[in-house]
Amino acid sequence: MAIKNITVLGSGIMGHGIAQVSAMAGYAVVLRDIEQQFLDKAMEKIKWSLDKLVSKQKITEQQGKEIFARITPIVDLKEALKDCDLMIEVVPEIMDLKKKVYAEVDRVALDKTVFASNTSTLPITEIASTTSRPEKFIGIHFFNPPQLMKLVEVIPGQKTSKELVDITINFVKSVSKEPVLCKKDVPGFIVNRLFIPLVHEAAYAMDRTGATKEEIDSAVKFTLNFPMGIFELADFTGMDVIHKATIEMHSRDNKVINPHPLIEKLYNEKKLGQKSGEGFYKYSKEQYERINLSEDLAKKFNPIQLLGNILNNAAWLVTNQASDVPEIEKALSLGMGLKKPLFETAKQFGIQNIVQELQRLAKQNKFYEPDQYLISIQ
Ligand SMILES: NC(=O)c1ccc[n+]([C@@H]2O[C@H](COP(=O)([O-])OP(=O)(O)OC[C@H]3O[C@@H](n4cnc5c(N)ncnc54)[C@H](O)[C@@H]3O)[C@@H](O)[C@H]2O)c1
Repeated sequence: MAIKNITVLGSGIMGHGIAQVSAMAGYAVVLRDIEQQFLDKAMEKIKWSLDKLVSKQKITEQQGKEIFARITPIVDLKEALKDCDLMIEVVPEIMDLKKKVYAEVDRVALDKTVFASNTSTLPITEIASTTSRPEKFIGIHFFNPPQLMKLVEVIPGQKTSKELVDITINFVKSVSKEPVLCKKDVPGFIVNRLFIPLVHEAAYAMDRTGATKEEIDSAVKFTLNFPMGIFELADFTGMDVIHKATIEMHSRDNKVINPHPLIEKLYNEKKLGQKSGEGFYKYSKEQYERINLSEDLAKKFNPIQLLGNILNNAAWLVTNQASDVPEIEKALSLGMGLKKPLFETAKQFGIQNIVQELQRLAKQNKFYEPDQYLISIQ
């Protein structure tokens, strides 16, 4: 089947961006939300973003107008799905809400319409099973902001057809993004499986070693080659997002994450990070602010336990045939901005040393037992 008409369900942070990148690739897009005022705001944001591209001479004024004209905002669901080939659902991350939305959509959508959910953490197979078309259901995980982030994870559910996997990968490429296939519907898919547990591990490392947040973050940035510190990244992402993802992932598989109580505490205290003015760090202004990290501070903390954590989860993905090392490296580079491949950094530390450190930690808590893939490559 050929994808021509796309309906994006939900016009919030992610939805309006996905609508924009789809229209930029030439697709006819319907943007649907539950109230006209949400659509008006979304269309304003799209206009602003296109104007910016015009001013930077990335597109011409005429192209900007044509792209904008390809997006039709519609509240009525039936009308919005009238001739839809691909429906991308981008409603809030609440399982009951998603299920309710799919029940409604499934009733009015045409037989030819395939469903793609932009969920970050909810199981694709479970959402798909509530529809009459699980073979025509897939996960398509754009990153924030979709206009800028190159990575899109593609996640088939247990019943997703091979044809739809291919169609989705081609669609992702057609909107100038880089697909990474997460071959199994595992908690956190690839990037969140590597990122979210690492925030908790960093909090444990702080308890164990007495290192400061700035020392740990400096080591993450300068020794592990991340674009910023892990606490900094958590504050940037938001403690609400991290807390919610933690609950989802941990409830489905307690081997993936060792929750540290500090994250729930910050969340309960509404210390959500950048957006609330305080998270792991305090922020004086509302605008984006960087923490002072340095190579000198980095020397004061050995991040081997953090490396062990992320590497163990990466190895789990390989052992469980959800991904492979090149795809994991691509996801880490494009989704988290790692400046050097993770397994290369690991080799510099010595995989054997990392495995030994994990085995040492595993004496206290079985969570740390090294994955068999890691053991096999040491
Ligand atoms: N924000 C992020 O950084 C991010 C990144 C990747 C994936 N996601 C995922 O994308 C999805 C949406 O997240 P968001 O941050 O854009 O949320 P958001 O709250 O900004 O937007 C959700 C939109 O959906 C609308 N909506 C609610 N019910 C609807 C319905 N029945 N039909 C159409 N629209 C409806 C809401 O009015 C709102 O405008 C979630 O599954 C989230 O996990 C978010």
